[in-house]
Amino acid sequence: MKSTLRNRMMLVIGLFGGLAASLMYSAGADTPPEAAPAKLAAEGPTAACKPSNLAIKADRKLTAEDFEEPKACAKCHERQIKGWQGSMHSLAFKDPVFQAEWALAFKATNGTALNDCGGCHTPIGITTGTVKFDPTLGKHGGFTAPKQAEHGVSCDVCHSVSGSTAKRSLNGQPGNASIELNPGETKYGPFKDSKSGYHETEYSELHTKAEFCGSCHNIFHSVNQFPIEHTYDEWKNSPYAQADIPCQDCHMVPVDVAIQVADRMVRAKDVPNHGLGGLAAKGSKKEREIVHDHGFVGGNTVIAAALGVPGAEANKAEAIKRLQNAADMDMDVRQGKGGAHELRIKVTNVRAGHHLPTSLTFIRRIWLDVTITDDQGKVILRSGELDAHNRVDEDTVIFGNHSVDKHGKSTVNPWEIARFDELNTIPPKGYRYGKYAFRLPDGAKSFKVEAKLNYQSYDQKVADKLLGDKAIIVPTVEMKALSRTYDAALKVVEIRNLAQR
Ligand code: HEC
Ligand code: HEC
Ligand code: HEC
Ligand code: HEC
Ligand code: HEC
Repeated sequence: MKSTLRNRMMLVIGLFGGLAASLMYSAGADTPPEAAPAKLAAEGPTAACKPSNLAIKADRKLTAEDFEEPKACAKCHERQIKGWQGSMHSLAFKDPVFQAEWALAFKATNGTALNDCGGCHTPIGITTGTVKFDPTLGKHGGFTAPKQAEHGVSCDVCHSVSGSTAKRSLNGQPGNASIELNPGETKYGPFKDSKSGYHETEYSELHTKAEFCGSCHNIFHSVNQFPIEHTYDEWKNSPYAQADIPCQDCHMVPVDVAIQVADRMVRAKDVPNHGLGGLAAKGSKKEREIVHDHGFVGGNTVIAAALGVPGAEANKAEAIKRLQNAADMDMDVRQGKGGAHELRIKVTNVRAGHHLPTSLTFIRRIWLDVTITDDQGKVILRSGELDAHNRVDEDTVIFGNHSVDKHGKSTVNPWEIARFDELNTIPPKGYRYGKYAFRLPDGAKSFKVEAKLNYQSYDQKVADKLLGDKAIIVPTVEMKALSRTYDAALKVVEIRNLAQR
């Protein structure tokens, strides 16, 4: 037992030597002498998590056995495990799309990406130094870890968080896994008066705040510091932050309740008849105002379903519902220049507490699919149609950001991104237009505009590159659909909200 442990430590130090060397290479002569590999390893386990902001309380040396598996919690916390097992948090390490991109990152950065990416996707693997690269897994290579670490962002990751390291990060903001872990007897959570025979409990205000989520939902490039993903920052600048409505109030309650939160601009606990009260654990005596859903439903309908984990179908149904209630769509047509008409489609972000889309704004795709037909059935304009390869063409109106490397070349690889050269996401409670010019054929008496707002987690080409040709077919979720018929004088004669698929 002891000797395997020592071997593991050797592996960590060995890997880390490579990491520090490549960091020094990219940071050039500015790198402080403290970054020398031997010294860093001597500085202890927390330093060995760099460049991630992940930290270990009191710099204890941790092993995988210091963490419990979710099934140990399931016995008493049935409601929490039910949601979590179908969530992307439970798959943050196993997710094949992540694994493939991580493998590419690992190879391109001489290993720096091991801790960099792993800090958020498997905090247990990184704090215990137990993740190994295996070039034979998947299309590009993959990673293995002890079973505790395979559960990604597990119960014992979040409930071992004893503090934030945000103050120590370069910009003082949460991000890059700015959490301190203290696994063991004590579970940190939202209650001030909680008692359990199984574990100690400690109140943590952090768990009730958006900053807790922001620790991992703000991603800075570890070398050039570019904010690649900034869901927390978007939220911080939104009306939701002003109204004190944290991430938890939308992502740790059913979508039906989250809709009420966004429409009334109130905390989840203040939504009338939310029906979320109950016992936080089997055998507990005290009724709680809210027992939180742990499904952390976002927009991903691909991965949990593809892996067929328990709870996947329920999570997928909620994700579709969440997407279908995020935006509103409206349209108008007016006389343009030189006899042309201008169609404007207005998309409003009514219920997302951040931009639409958020996070991987350079990969996630929300786009407009528009058809204009005249009264003879002739198609006058077609835009945003999926082709035989499950892709849309370049002049489609896409809400998202476009990322480039330091030479201005298009890239979606996080380790290469230096900036965005186009910004087109929709801010919370704000709107953006998609605009189209068209001409009515002579003699047309009326015309019909059909518009759909669609969502894909990624372009089919990205999926093919990471997983192999057509290994998965990226599904399309229809977020909204609207049809309007106008007469030749541009007066609306018929409006239809189309049924959603
Ligand atoms: C991504 C982090 C995260 C993960 C993973 C997670 N939790 Fe939680 N959990 C929280 C947060 C945050 C709260 C407090 C929410 C609030 O009060 O605003 C919470 C609340 C709780 C509570 C208090 C009662 C309640 O539900 O509100 C219990 C018990 C709990 N979690 C158990 C678990 C168990 C068991 C698992 C694994 C199946 C788990 N948690 C996974 C973040 C997490
Ligand atoms: C600060 C925490 C953090 C770091 C560091 C991080 N990620 Fe992530 N990653 C996330 C979060 C959060 C999401 C989910 C966002 C969403 O779904 O909208 C995510 C999602 C992804 C996805 C999409 C998975 C899917 O199935 O859609 C890929 C791919 C990915 N990350 C790759 C990487 C790589 C490669 C690195 C290192 C270069 C990295 N991540 C570093 C937090 C992080
Ligand atoms: C034998 C039953 C049992 C097991 C097993 C168990 N818990 Fe608990 N847990 C409880 C009880 C009872 C409470 C108190 C609930 C209350 O106060 O409403 C509790 C409370 C909590 C809280 C809230 C703490 C606070 O102060 O806010 C968290 C978080 C938590 N448990 C996490 C976990 C995690 C993570 C695991 C697995 C590693 C786990 N529990 C395993 C029974 C259990
Ligand atoms: C330890 C880091 C960590 C913490 C803390 C964390 N997350 Fe995550 N979260 C992730 C990662 C990593 C993923 C993406 C996994 C993937 O796609 O492979 C993710 C995924 C998600 C998703 C699913 C996105 C999708 O595309 O469907 C939601 C929603 C989410 N997190 C919300 C939250 C909320 C709310 C909190 C705070 C209560 C939180 N997270 C705390 C790391 C974290
Ligand atoms: C008012 C409700 C609300 C609040 C508050 C909120 N969200 Fe969301 N979130 C949504 C909705 C609706 C979606 C689906 C639309 C989308 O993908 O943006 C979503 C989607 C997401 C996704 C998946 C994005 C994707 O397409 O991959 C992540 C990750 C996420 N939220 C994290 C967070 C975090 C972290 C916070 C707090 C900093 C937060 N959310 C606050 C409503 C909310």
